Amino acid sequence: MNDPQTDLPVPDPGLEEHPPRFTDVDDAAADRAYKQIVGMLAAVPVLVVAFLVVYFAVPRDAELVLFGANLKMQTTLLGLTAGVATLLIGISAIHWARMLMSDEEIVGDRHGAASPPEARERVLTDLETGIEASGIRRRKLLGTGMAGALGMMALPAVVSLADMGPWPTAELRAKTIEKTIWAEGVHLVNDVTFTRLKATELVVGQLVNAQPETLQEYHGAALQQQKAKASIIVVRMDPNSIRIPESRRDWQVDGILCYSKICTHVGCPISLWEQQTHHLLCPCHQSTFDLGNSGVVVFGPAARALPQLPITTDAEGYLVARSDFTVPVGPSYFERDSSKDFQEGDR
Ligand code: FES
Repeated sequence: MNDPQTDLPVPDPGLEEHPPRFTDVDDAAADRAYKQIVGMLAAVPVLVVAFLVVYFAVPRDAELVLFGANLKMQTTLLGLTAGVATLLIGISAIHWARMLMSDEEIVGDRHGAASPPEARERVLTDLETGIEASGIRRRKLLGTGMAGALGMMALPAVVSLADMGPWPTAELRAKTIEKTIWAEGVHLVNDVTFTRLKATELVVGQLVNAQPETLQEYHGAALQQQKAKASIIVVRMDPNSIRIPESRRDWQVDGILCYSKICTHVGCPISLWEQQTHHLLCPCHQSTFDLGNSGVVVFGPAARALPQLPITTDAEGYLVARSDFTVPVGPSYFERDSSKDFQEGDR
């Protein structure tokens, strides 16, 4: 017979000795905690009365200047009285639980999750009774007919898949989701002011949200589609503090690098930038990309690095793209071939 104590893979260390709380060994301390809790609870009715007085007595348009800010007096006082009352109830409940409620440690043994054999036996018997009662064993065509009818019902669902759009062939993907309007010589412009970005005007640690200048040629739905794929962030880092692979050396200008703004997880736009670590954090599910290391994923569910846009400057020093992105931007999809994302030795 197995001994549950000696058959464990590691010996059961048992419970550590439980040190008593000071309120368990010192009556005066327990009394103090008791008075503190009662004191906090006693303040709550006072605050509630104050809340009612403020509600009825303070005019709604009365103002209050606090730390240089103009506030509505009634709203501020109502918030303060209700907030402090709620806080006191919470603190007193925690204090009560920690200082005065029973501090006993209890061991609860785990039990097997399987149902007892009698219950399993009963379920099988009930199932057998149900099958017998359905008559499916005597009139076999009933079962076949039902299975066939249900199987046929799948056809309308399968046929309606055709409404989801054209089949995403390699040719179609190359013209749509794998292509953006970035191209050689297209200027990078600030996505609010639409002014061109000059390399010398960006300082180390700065991040700018940007778009291709040619986006202005699009309107309506086409504008939104192109913007969704072409949005970028431009960051400037100290070139000595980052790692630039040989194959990407001419994709940047004095530490100015440009990446897709679209998260490779499920496509949220990102621009939460940590200057010191060079990390870019996606607010949706916390994927984190290292922009000082070709945009590789350092944390979170994203499976691919952030695509980098090769850039250079024109004759006047304005930033321009060298080409389109070299890999598709945005979330991954089944046919996405990520083998070309990096060249040999890049990482
Ligand atoms: S969309 Fe960015 S982490 Fe999910």
